[in-house]
Amino acid sequence: MSDIVGDIKARLNIEDVVAQYVRLKPSGRNLKGLCPFHQEKTPSFMVSPEKQIAYCFGCHKGGDMINFIEEVEGVEFKDAITILADKAGIDMAQYTLSEPKHSTSEKSDLYAMHESAASFYEDMLWKTEKGEKVLAYLRNRGLNDETIRTFHFGLAPDSFDKTHLYLVKQGYSRKHIVLSGIAISKNTQGDSVYDRFRARLMIPIYDTVGRMVGFGGRALKKDDQPKYLNSPDSPIYRKSDVLYGYNFAKDSVKKEDSIILVEGYFDVIMSHQTGVKNVAATSGTALTPQQVKLIKRFTKNMIFSFDTDKAGIEAAKRGFELAQHEEMNVRVLHNMAAKDPADFIKDNPDQWSTIINNSIPFMQFCIDEVVSSHNNSSLQGKKKILAELNPFFQILSSSFEKDYFVRELAQKLDIKEVVIYDELKKKKGHRTYTQSDNQKKPDTATKKIGTLDLLLTLIIEYPALLEKEFAAIPEKMLEENEKSIYNAVKDNYNLLRAEGKRKEFLACLNDEIQQRVEMISLFVDEVYGNYNEHMLQEEAQKLLDKIIKRLLNRQKRTLSARIREAEKNGDTSTAKELLVKLQQLMSS
Ligand code: UTP
Ligand code: MN
Repeated sequence: MSDIVGDIKARLNIEDVVAQYVRLKPSGRNLKGLCPFHQEKTPSFMVSPEKQIAYCFGCHKGGDMINFIEEVEGVEFKDAITILADKAGIDMAQYTLSEPKHSTSEKSDLYAMHESAASFYEDMLWKTEKGEKVLAYLRNRGLNDETIRTFHFGLAPDSFDKTHLYLVKQGYSRKHIVLSGIAISKNTQGDSVYDRFRARLMIPIYDTVGRMVGFGGRALKKDDQPKYLNSPDSPIYRKSDVLYGYNFAKDSVKKEDSIILVEGYFDVIMSHQTGVKNVAATSGTALTPQQVKLIKRFTKNMIFSFDTDKAGIEAAKRGFELAQHEEMNVRVLHNMAAKDPADFIKDNPDQWSTIINNSIPFMQFCIDEVVSSHNNSSLQGKKKILAELNPFFQILSSSFEKDYFVRELAQKLDIKEVVIYDELKKKKGHRTYTQSDNQKKPDTATKKIGTLDLLLTLIIEYPALLEKEFAAIPEKMLEENEKSIYNAVKDNYNLLRAEGKRKEFLACLNDEIQQRVEMISLFVDEVYGNYNEHMLQEEAQKLLDKIIKRLLNRQKRTLSARIREAEKNGDTSTAKELLVKLQQLMSS
């Protein structure tokens, strides 16, 4: 189960998870909303996208996304994981079957095996008679030889054993060859295998850093099914995480600050050949959240090129929805007189960049399409248009854009904007959160912030400024179980003081303490964010006084208890000794 938590957190953002329950508004670096855990009128529930933590400063509940779901849904850890895995599109089954761990050496063996297989396939393409015919096919499709080499096209021989026998000869085990997907095992022992790819045009697939992780094998005869046979998922290849061509596109994506998303291998490759390199393919499936996250590292601007059939529009809509969550912009290519970019580029290589420059916002495209497919002058037609566009409007997260496109549509339909807004409101699928009525809430996320931890977190945020205050914390009076953050700060003060080393410091803490510090620092940000140095020192001093006072009181209480105990046992000398101590304490 340990891995799944990491996988969930890699795929989901806490702000998106929370946004399904709480309406969030930006507040500095954080987001703020009405707390879902208690009744309140002014928002004190904070979400930090940076720290991936949510916390309420009113009722002191919160934590990471798992704690949040536990609390808000009133469920145990395991169920929270199930809910989140579902949101993340993670198949739980693969985790419960205790998945064999794949070692680094096993992975590097698999990468190398792909390289080896690819050069075997390349030799088949460039050095055989059959290859000659395939080269002719490729050239006929508009690819030049340089492109064919750059993308390492190859040819799988028309044989059940040539490829894997070659790999065995290179020293790869049958077990690994099957694991890679290059061969298929006939029996469970895996000792009898046959080649997956036979008589196919082979296109290597790379991961984001450019390691070869799989193949797409295109049929060479019309009736060969499927048209593309792809490598299965393997320890080095997870389809949902990979965009074909992204490794070649990255630099250009950064430079152009946009990415063109196409459907197929050939679309990517032909685009490259014309010099447009910020392009990658979803390989015929819908864009996944992981792919969007990948893109977002380099650009917020996506340009879709998709089939305008029903399935294509549905896939684009899903991609648009993901993009809205990530506050990314989506434009689409239109007026391209061809089946797909590859075909278009083949006939009009010089006009490809014009098509790209003429892209329009996704919403604009939808409005144009839907309006033109109905009679927009009849009442009935207007109703249909509104109904069809409604789901797209519901996805829009920016009210600026909503306003813009509502105007646009109002004009096209010659109706008042308010009518559109009314319709949009009516059809909105209400996602209401009802205050959880079950009382058995787990308390994992309900720890309040103690004064000591608050002071320590303040010190972590301002280590140079609050060195004296740290030194003044009466270490000897602390009990072992209170000292976890204290010890961490003490052991790493130098690291902390060194500029920008907060992250490294946090990495030294165990997960639980790390999360706690992040949570409290969210509070520190919120409350002390605009304090100047003097005010911060004053505040630290106040906290310190409070801590010392409490610790003294605690000592007095324990001393008094021990004195009573000694007196009860008739141990007068000990009682006297303790009394002196107590008197000293009282006068301090
Ligand atoms: P297309 O059917 O549009 O193929 O599928 P294409 O890219 O235009 O191929 P060419 O130009 O005829 O050679 C688009 C993408 O969907 C995936 C492939 O990644 C393909 O590039 N696909 C398609 C499959 O994975 N399997 C299939 O059987 C078909
Ligand atoms: Mn095509």
